[in-house]
Amino acid sequence: MKNFDIVVAIDSQGGVGFQGSIPWKVKGDMAFFKRLTTLSEEGKKNGVIMGRKTWDSLPASYKPLPDRVNLVLTRSATLDLPEGVCSFSSLDDGVTFSENHTIDRLFVIGGSEIYREAIQSQWCRCLYVTYIEGQYNCDTFFPEIPDRFHLMSESKKICESDITYSFRVYNSVID
Ligand SMILES: NC(=O)c1ccc[n+]([C@@H]2O[C@H](COP(=O)([O-])OP(=O)(O)OC[C@H]3O[C@@H](n4cnc5c(N)ncnc54)[C@H](OP(=O)(O)O)[C@@H]3O)[C@@H](O)[C@H]2O)c1
Repeated sequence: MKNFDIVVAIDSQGGVGFQGSIPWKVKGDMAFFKRLTTLSEEGKKNGVIMGRKTWDSLPASYKPLPDRVNLVLTRSATLDLPEGVCSFSSLDDGVTFSENHTIDRLFVIGGSEIYREAIQSQWCRCLYVTYIEGQYNCDTFFPEIPDRFHLMSESKKICESDITYSFRVYNSVID
């Protein structure tokens, strides 16, 4: 099976969302997300797997996320998606599809429900966590990070407007 990485921004309580959107706007993180998930080997695209609610939350102008293969997880057989966007009824099906098509790197990009399942998967190799200092009003959360993930690096703190954040990378230590 194909390995994948998780990309997430969390607050100090692990919050990721509120009422279907992200409760902060950090341009530096958005640029990081775009660069990380888009840059791929020549001739290939990366894949981004997301839950249906995260798909719904994307602004129309970013739907589908450009220059990436968008994969949406849903248990509904009738979800209407634009051409080129694929839906899958399980995480494993999405990962298997990515293995069989010319997809370079594969990223799980949320939301909470999908993170919970993905972080337990043996195919999850790396977590890119943008750590936003402070506590926001959130109703959806990132799961506790399992012990098999070790913090490998953390950027210096970055201040943008009144928000302080840093980029953390965790790697799975189990092959
Ligand atoms: N901070 C961040 O980095 C970040 C990133 C992404 C999202 N978010 C936020 O997270 C929130 C959304 O998270 P959420 O947990 O409510 O929803 P979600 O994980 O985006 O989507 C949940 C939906 O995905 C489908 N699904 C879940 N598990 C599945 C499985 N195993 N197989 C097939 N389909 C599956 C179901 O869709 P159906 O109901 O259609 O069956 C389910 O209702 C929003 O507030 C969003 O803004 C934050």
